Amino acid sequence: MSGSDGAFSTGERRPLTRDAFTSEETYRRTRLPVSLATTLIPDAYSSPEFHELELERIFGTSWVAACCTAEVAEPGDAVAVTVGTASALVVRGADGIVRAFHNVCRHRGTQLVEEGRTHVERFFRCPYHSWAYALDGACLGTPLFEGSEIPESEQRIFDMSDVKEFDRTDYGLLPLRAETWGCLVFVNLDLDAPPLADELGDLPDRLAGYRLEEWGELQARRRELHGVLPPPVGAPGARQGLTDEGALPLAGPRNVHRHDDDAYCRQR
Ligand code: FES
Repeated sequence: MSGSDGAFSTGERRPLTRDAFTSEETYRRTRLPVSLATTLIPDAYSSPEFHELELERIFGTSWVAACCTAEVAEPGDAVAVTVGTASALVVRGADGIVRAFHNVCRHRGTQLVEEGRTHVERFFRCPYHSWAYALDGACLGTPLFEGSEIPESEQRIFDMSDVKEFDRTDYGLLPLRAETWGCLVFVNLDLDAPPLADELGDLPDRLAGYRLEEWGELQARRRELHGVLPPPVGAPGARQGLTDEGALPLAGPRNVHRHDDDAYCRQR
């Protein structure tokens, strides 16, 4: 049932069951023409069970905007960010390619890099026992004592070089999928997921006039200020946010064109 403003009606039997969260029928009315449609179910914003399902089915398998291309513009630039249930490390390699990895040391599972932006010259060093990883994820040393704080007298304890059956090339950082579109770097936890282009569909064509690749600095500032980027491509909230026609009179093309960097930065 739709309210006069399209808001979700409270005439439903509440609370909804977990099964209802994954039923097409639950969302059928959100897809009606806007004058008849309801908004997303309230549970999508408040239910821990709904959140669990989102982590598993959307953040675990969709392309998630992890950071801005401007934040990894140069080789060695890196961003550590939470994607669903994982900590992801996005880094631009010496070859210019943007890659993503689980932000987890292969030795004892320590988080390699603290959340946020960083820059390294040649490698990441685990803060625990100094295992080192190249920008392309390769394990360089187990540990790499060069520049480490491990006293020389104790280095023997950590040295793996004479351990039989151990080959450090088997212990590079575990990869995630990474692709870019416009000013954003997307990460996918599912190594078998279809390419980003499949999930974006015709969005790049429809937004071609907005020159999104030039918005990098602006989006980087937005993330710095508010800690958010657009939701995963497949998220129900993403569709709602992008197509909420009730907001169009306020956020129409005239206003979008006025939304320039200077105006945005004055909000600080
Ligand atoms: S946990 Fe990273 S080097 Fe030991």
